Amino acid sequence: MTTLTFIGNGNMAKALIQGLIKDYNIEVLGRNKTSLDSLQKELPSIKTALLKDTNDISNKNIILCVKPNSLDDLSPKLSGKASSIYSVLAGTTLETLEEKISSNSYIRTMPNLSASYLKSMTTITGDEALKESALSIFGNIGNTLWVKSQKELDIATAVAGSGPAYLAMIAESLADGGVNAGLTRADATKLVQGLFEGFSPLLNNNTPASIKDGVMSPGGTTAAGYSAMERCGVRNGMIEAIRCAYEKAKELGKK
Ligand SMILES: NC(=O)c1ccc[n+]([C@@H]2O[C@H](COP(=O)([O-])OP(=O)(O)OC[C@H]3O[C@@H](n4cnc5c(N)ncnc54)[C@H](OP(=O)(O)O)[C@@H]3O)[C@@H](O)[C@H]2O)c1
Repeated sequence: MTTLTFIGNGNMAKALIQGLIKDYNIEVLGRNKTSLDSLQKELPSIKTALLKDTNDISNKNIILCVKPNSLDDLSPKLSGKASSIYSVLAGTTLETLEEKISSNSYIRTMPNLSASYLKSMTTITGDEALKESALSIFGNIGNTLWVKSQKELDIATAVAGSGPAYLAMIAESLADGGVNAGLTRADATKLVQGLFEGFSPLLNNNTPASIKDGVMSPGGTTAAGYSAMERCGVRNGMIEAIRCAYEKAKELGKK
């Protein structure tokens, strides 16, 4: 079995390890003994070790799972040339990775919060030679999309990386609408949870336009609600959200 070496053992690392443990040997390098010990206890088949002042990463396949602003502190502690680097660091470009960590090849990914339920929508770019292995590794925590450029990855970050926050606003406001009309908060929340669960298979099998047409009858309740959404600019609000998030991703990438 191939060995994958995680650096960092936070939320994203844990989600990935849980998805990968059946197919790979996993070793984890971290800086906090207590959290490493508890991860080791939870998943006895993995190997854990504390990061030292110098850590030889020669020929290893590294999954980089620290915070983006930790890279400057971490990189001087890594010696040797890795076989591959798979980074989940938001906003950290392939060029920055190449500058900071020595490796034969590099992959940049953007998972999302649903990774903790192994339902991430992960966008991936980087060295074509690693495309298949990257899709296979990150396929263990949900859906994957390979894109050819970091520009597309930044746009995908705006859509799917930030997306859970936008959907959370829709979910919260739908429940607020229910409460405003007279439902209890508990009932409104339950309705919205069920709505989102049932929406996923609908969206996987139909276009958004055909879902809308399927619900909307002439002069009916959906048509009244839908035209209120258009009047209030919901569609344009979403398009602007993606545009602004993409602009921000570009700006952060330059820093
Ligand atoms: N969570 C998400 O939904 C999500 C989505 C997309 C991308 N990402 C990316 O995933 C990465 C990790 O996020 P996360 O949510 O897993 O964060 P997290 O739970 O805070 O985990 C970060 C890990 O990095 C370690 N670390 C931090 N600074 C370090 C340093 N200087 N040297 C060595 N280790 C260091 C932390 O150790 P300590 O425990 O000692 O602090 C911790 O194990 C980030 O780059 C983020 O951009 C996350």
